[in-house]
Amino acid sequence: SQQNRLTPWSNDPVSDPPGEVLYLRDEDAGATWTPTPLPVRAADAGPYVIAHGAGYTRYEHHSHGIAQTLLVAVAVDEPVKLARLTLRNLGPQPRRLAVAAYLEWVLGATRTQTQPFIVTERDAETGALLARNPYNTDYPGRIAFAALWLEEEPLALTVTGDRLEFIGRNRGLANPAGLERPALSGRVGAGLDPCGALLARLILAPGATVEVVLLIGQAHDRDQARRLVRRFRGPEQVRQALAAVQTHWDTILGTVQVQTPDPAFDLLLNRWLLYQVLACRLWGRSAFYQSGGAYGFRDQLQDVLALDFARPDLARQHILRAAERQFPEGDVQHWWHPATGQGVRTRSSDDYLWLPYAAMHYVEATGDTGLWNEAVPFLKGPRLEPDQQEALVPAVPSAQSASLYEHCRRALDNGLRFGPHGLPLIGNGDWNDGMNRVGPGGRGESIWLGWFLVANLERFAGLAGERGDAGTAERYRRQAASVKEALQTHGWDGAWYRRAYFDDGTPLGSAQNDECQIDSIAQTWGLLSGAAPPERARQAMQSLAERLVRPQDGLILLLAPPFNQSKPNPGYIQGYVPGIRENGGQYTHAALWVILAYIEQGDGDRAAELFRLINPIYHAATPEAVARYKVEPYVVAADVYSHPSHVGRGGWTWYTGSAAWMYRTGLEGLLGLRRQGAGFTLDPCLPRDWPGFTLTLRHGRARYHVTVTNPERLSRGVPRVTVDGQELAGSHVRLVDDGGAHRVHVELRKA
Ligand code: GLC
Repeated sequence: SQQNRLTPWSNDPVSDPPGEVLYLRDEDAGATWTPTPLPVRAADAGPYVIAHGAGYTRYEHHSHGIAQTLLVAVAVDEPVKLARLTLRNLGPQPRRLAVAAYLEWVLGATRTQTQPFIVTERDAETGALLARNPYNTDYPGRIAFAALWLEEEPLALTVTGDRLEFIGRNRGLANPAGLERPALSGRVGAGLDPCGALLARLILAPGATVEVVLLIGQAHDRDQARRLVRRFRGPEQVRQALAAVQTHWDTILGTVQVQTPDPAFDLLLNRWLLYQVLACRLWGRSAFYQSGGAYGFRDQLQDVLALDFARPDLARQHILRAAERQFPEGDVQHWWHPATGQGVRTRSSDDYLWLPYAAMHYVEATGDTGLWNEAVPFLKGPRLEPDQQEALVPAVPSAQSASLYEHCRRALDNGLRFGPHGLPLIGNGDWNDGMNRVGPGGRGESIWLGWFLVANLERFAGLAGERGDAGTAERYRRQAASVKEALQTHGWDGAWYRRAYFDDGTPLGSAQNDECQIDSIAQTWGLLSGAAPPERARQAMQSLAERLVRPQDGLILLLAPPFNQSKPNPGYIQGYVPGIRENGGQYTHAALWVILAYIEQGDGDRAAELFRLINPIYHAATPEAVARYKVEPYVVAADVYSHPSHVGRGGWTWYTGSAAWMYRTGLEGLLGLRRQGAGFTLDPCLPRDWPGFTLTLRHGRARYHVTVTNPERLSRGVPRVTVDGQELAGSHVRLVDDGGAHRVHVELRKA
C-alpha cells in the first residue's frame, strides 16, 4: 500500500483530491457530473447518501433524472477492485449518456516520482487498459489494469492513456475535456503524462436500468490480468463477487455477537472494531492519515490478540512472521516492508518483548502449544554502531534458525539491561515512540517498561518451568523480583508512578517536572502486570483519575501537562503541538489500558462509564458532537485532541492499534469472555446497572447461546454456569463442534 500504490494517496483532508473518478454526462443537455460528491457535485443535487459497511461503500444519489447507485468493494480472493454503478432512468424520455472512468496511475510510492516511467497500452483481447512501471524493481513485471464494461455491449468504448487529453489544457477534474469529445483518441504508450481513461456511451430507455462496472487491479503478468478482467465481466459474476465479500465478513464478524444494554457498545463489538483490525491494521496497513504498508513490530503483534475467536489462525501466522524479523541478538526490525524485507534496526526497548507477550497470549487462548516448537529463521544484519540510534540495515534471512520458544527467550534476555536505578533501559524509546531522547546515552530508564518486562518475565518463567527449562525459569523469576523492587524504590513519586529517568538521572512523569508530571501508562501497567502493590495501585489510579480523565471533554489523556519547553528534551513527542497525538492528547490505545486497569480492580461501573466516554459512536450522537469530533464515528481514532482550540476533535482515524485493544477491553474485560484452550470462560466485570447480557458464539457448526444474569447487580461475582441445563463444577465451558445449538447460562453470585 505504500511502495506499489495503484492510484494516489493524497493525505490532504482540505482539498481531498480524488485519484479515481467515475463521470456521467447528459449528452443532450451537456451537463457533466459524478455520482460521488467529488469532484463534481451535481448542481440540482439532492443528498448523496454514503453508507460504509464491512467490505463495501455505497453511494446513492438522484440527479438529472437518473437514480445512481455506486457500490465499491474488493474481491475476496483476487487483487481486483470492483465499482458497480447502477443507473436508472426516472423520466419519460430515453436518455443519451456518457460514462467515463478516469484514474491516475501511480504504480509506486508517488505519482511525481513514477509518472515518467509509466507505460500504458490497450489490450486487444479484453479491451482493458494496461499500465506498468518497469522502474519499480521491487514489484517486477506487475501489470495494472482498468476495464469498463456495460451490462449490454457498449455502444462505443474509447480510451486514452494521456492525462492531458482527458483533463484538457487549463482544466481540472471538475470539468475534464475528455467527456466533451465524441471519442477518446486511443493514445497510449510511454512518455505521456499517464492516466487511464475509458469512455462509453449508452442510451437508457424510460424506466430502464443499466449496470456499468469499472475494474481496477494489478496482476503478476499479462495472462493473469486478462484472466481477471474476464472473470469479473458480466453482471452475474460481479453480483457473486460482491455477495462473496459480504459472506466473508459476515462469517468472520459473526463468530461472536453480543447484546448488551448499550447498543453503541454492541455495534462496535459486533461489526466495526474487528473489521478495523483486520481490514485496516492487519491487511491494508493503510489509511487516510498514514499509508505505511509496513508491519510495525509491536503493532500487529498486539492487533492479532483480538482474533482469539474469529481468526486465531491469522494470529499464529503473524506471530511466526514477526519472529522471522528477529536478529540472533534478540532485537528486531522495528518495522519492515514485507515485499522487500527492508526495515530498521533500532534501540527501541520494548518492541521485541511483544513477541513473547503475543505468543503466550495466543497459546493460552488456543492451547496450541505446538507453536513453541516451530522452527523460525533469524535475520542476519550488521549491528548498530555505538553512536547509532537506528539504521536501515540490509537484512537477509540467516542460515540460523531456532524454535519460537528460543526466539522468545532471546527477546527476553535482550531486555535484561538495566540502568543506575536497576530499572530497564529505555533506549531510543519504548511503547511511546516519541520519547526517543530520554535514554540515547544508554543510561535512561523506563518505569513503564519495568512493568511490561516483569509481566513477561513472570509469565515466561512459568512456561519455562513447564518445559523443563528450570534455569531460565529461575533466572527470570529472580530478575522479575529485582525489577519489582526497583519499581517500588525508584518508580514511586509519592502519589503515582514516575514514567522514566533521563540519561542524566532527571525523573520524567514526576511532580518535580513542569510538563508531563504524570503519564497514564506507568499507572495502568502497574495493574495490568499484576506487579504493583494494591494500595499504591489504588493511589496511582486515583491520581490518574484526577489529572488525566476529563469527563466534561470526553477525554482520557495520555499524560499531562503536555510537553512544550521541557529540558531535557524527551524526543520528537515534544515536536507535536501540545495536546495532540502522544503529546497529551487522548491517545486511545493507552486510554483503553486505563479501562482495563479499572477492570483489573473490579470496578465495572467506572470501566463501563469510561468505555462509553470514549466510544466514538457517542462522539457523533448530536450535530454539536459531530461538529466537534469531525471524523468517522464508526472506527476508533488513534488520538483525540485536548489542545484548547480543538478540544474533543478526532485525530488520526482507522490505522490505530486501539481498535484491537478496544475490542478486547469490551469482550474480554467488561463481558469477561476469554477463549481458553478447547473452550471459554466467562468472568464479567459489569456496571451495576446492567441486569446482564447475552451473546452467541459460533464454533464450527455449533452455536452457543449464552445468557449472563446478574440478579444481585454485582460488578464482579462468582459465575455459576450451566450448559444445556447441567451445572458445571467450574466455569470453563468446553466447545464442541457437534452442529448443535447449546444454551449456556451464567449467573453471577456473591463470593
Ligand atoms: C504508534 C506506533 C506504535 C506506538 C504508538 C505510541 O501507534 O505505531 O508502535 O506504540 O504510536 O507511540
